[in-house]
Amino acid sequence: MGGAPGTLPEREGQSTGVVVSGEPVTSAVRLWGGRFESGPADSLARLSTSVQFDWRLARYDLLASGAHARVLHRAGLLDDDEVARLLAAIDELSRDCQTGAFRPSAADEDVHTALERGLLERVGSLGGRLRAGRSRNDQVATDLRLYLRDHARQVVARLAEVQTALMDQAERHLAERTPAPGMTHMQHAQPVLLAHQLLAHVHALARDVARLRDWDKRAAICPLGSGALAGSSLPLDPAAVAAELGFDAPAGNSMDAVADRDFAAEFCFAAALTGVHLSRLGEEVVLWTTHEFGWAEIDDAYATGSSIMPQKKNADVAELARGKAGRLIGGLAGLLTTLKGLPLTYNRDLQEDKEPAFDAVDTLLLVAPAMAGLLSSMRFHAERLTRSAAAGHALATDVAELLVRRGVPFREAHEAVGHLVVWCQVHDCELGEVSDEDMQKVSPHLTPDVRSVLSVAGAIAARDQTGGTAPERVAEQLDSLRHVVAADAAWAST
Ligand code: ARG
Repeated sequence: MGGAPGTLPEREGQSTGVVVSGEPVTSAVRLWGGRFESGPADSLARLSTSVQFDWRLARYDLLASGAHARVLHRAGLLDDDEVARLLAAIDELSRDCQTGAFRPSAADEDVHTALERGLLERVGSLGGRLRAGRSRNDQVATDLRLYLRDHARQVVARLAEVQTALMDQAERHLAERTPAPGMTHMQHAQPVLLAHQLLAHVHALARDVARLRDWDKRAAICPLGSGALAGSSLPLDPAAVAAELGFDAPAGNSMDAVADRDFAAEFCFAAALTGVHLSRLGEEVVLWTTHEFGWAEIDDAYATGSSIMPQKKNADVAELARGKAGRLIGGLAGLLTTLKGLPLTYNRDLQEDKEPAFDAVDTLLLVAPAMAGLLSSMRFHAERLTRSAAAGHALATDVAELLVRRGVPFREAHEAVGHLVVWCQVHDCELGEVSDEDMQKVSPHLTPDVRSVLSVAGAIAARDQTGGTAPERVAEQLDSLRHVVAADAAWAST
C-alpha cells in the first residue's frame, strides 16, 4: 500500500546507494503475500526497513545462497539444470552487486529480500525455489557470523600494524637505552625503559587480538538449516553447508541458532575493550606531546593545526582514538540491552544487532591505521626523557632496597629514605646531590656508598626479573611479542 513517498533515513558512512526520493517504501518482494490481503502501511515499512544498513551483508548472503542451492540439489529438490542456472544467476548477481549494476532500492526491506528480487529478475520463478528449507531467521544469523568472522581478521591485521609501530619504536629506543619516568598516580615513580612502556601497550593489544581469535572459535557455528526456528523437514545437510561456508560445525539447537546473538555481543565487547586500550594509548600520546611533558613530537602528517593559533600542533588522532571508545562502549551497552528481555526464538528486535556490530568494525578500521601512522612517525626526545627519568626523586626505592639487602627492615629503610627525600625538597636538590655528612645526619643507614644505586641506568638494569624493565628482559619481551604478532597477522590472512 504505502502512502506518501518515503525516504530512507541516511546513515553516516553507510552508503548503500539506495535511491530514496520519491519512492514509496513498500516491499518489492512480498514474502507473505498469500496470507495478507493488504500490504504494509508506509510507516511500518519505513520502521522495518534495514536494507540501508544491512546491504553490506550482500556478499555473505550470496555465499550462503550458493551453499544452500547445492544442498537443495543434493537433496534432489533441484535438478542439475536448475542448480546450474541458479548458481550462474547467483554469480552474475554477485558481480552486479560488486560493479553496482544491481543496487538495493528503497522498496527492498532488507538485504535478503533485495537479493531475492535480484535472483527473480535473473531466473524468474526458479529464484523462489531457494526459499525452500530456509528462513531469513537462519539466513541473517549466518550472514552476520560470516561478516564478523571476516572482518575480525581485517581488524586483527590493522591492530598488528599498531603493534608493529610500537615495537619498532621500542626496538629503536631499546638500542639507545632511552629511559622514561615510569609513573603511578601520574607522579614520577621509578625509571623504566621507554621501550618497556611502549611494549606494555603491545601486550594489551595482544590480549585484544587473542580475545578475537578465541571469539572466532565460538562464532564458527553455522545456523543455516535451522529454518525459522525448528529445523527443516527437508533432507538438507547442515554439516555440509557449515563446512562449505568455513564454519567448524552446524548449530546444535535450531532454536538457539536463530535466537543467539552472543557472537555479536562478544564481538562488540572485544571491540570495545580494544577501543579502551587504543583510548588509553591515545591519552598517553596526548600527554607525551604536551609542552609540559615534552617526551615526543607528532609528525606533521598526523597532527592538526589551529585556524586561529599559528603555533598549535594538536594530537587529534590520539584524541579521536580516545573519543571513539565511547561509541564502541555505547554500541555494546545498547546491544546487551536489546537482548536482555528477548524470549526465544527470533524476535524482530534482533534486527538491531547489526548497526552496533558494523559500527564497531568501522570504528576500529578507521582508528587503527591512523594510530599506526601516528605512532610509527612520532619522534621521541631522548635527552628530555633522560633528564626527566630521575626527576622527582625517582631513585628513592633503589636506596631503600639497597638498605634492605644490607639487612635493614624495609619499614626502617623506607623511613630513612623518606627523610632524605624531605631533606632534598627543603634544600631543592636531588638525592645524589646530598653530601656525605648531611646523609649521615638524616640517617646513620645512609652511608656514602648508597650513591652507587643512584643512577637511572643502574636502577633499570637492576630490575631484571621476568617482566622487569632491565634491557635484557625487555629484549626478550620484544622478541616474544614479535612472534605473537607475526602469528596473529598470519591468522588474520586465513
Ligand atoms: N532483517 C531481518 C533481521 O535483520 C531479517 C530477519 C527477518 N525475519 C523475520 N522473521 N522478520 O533480523
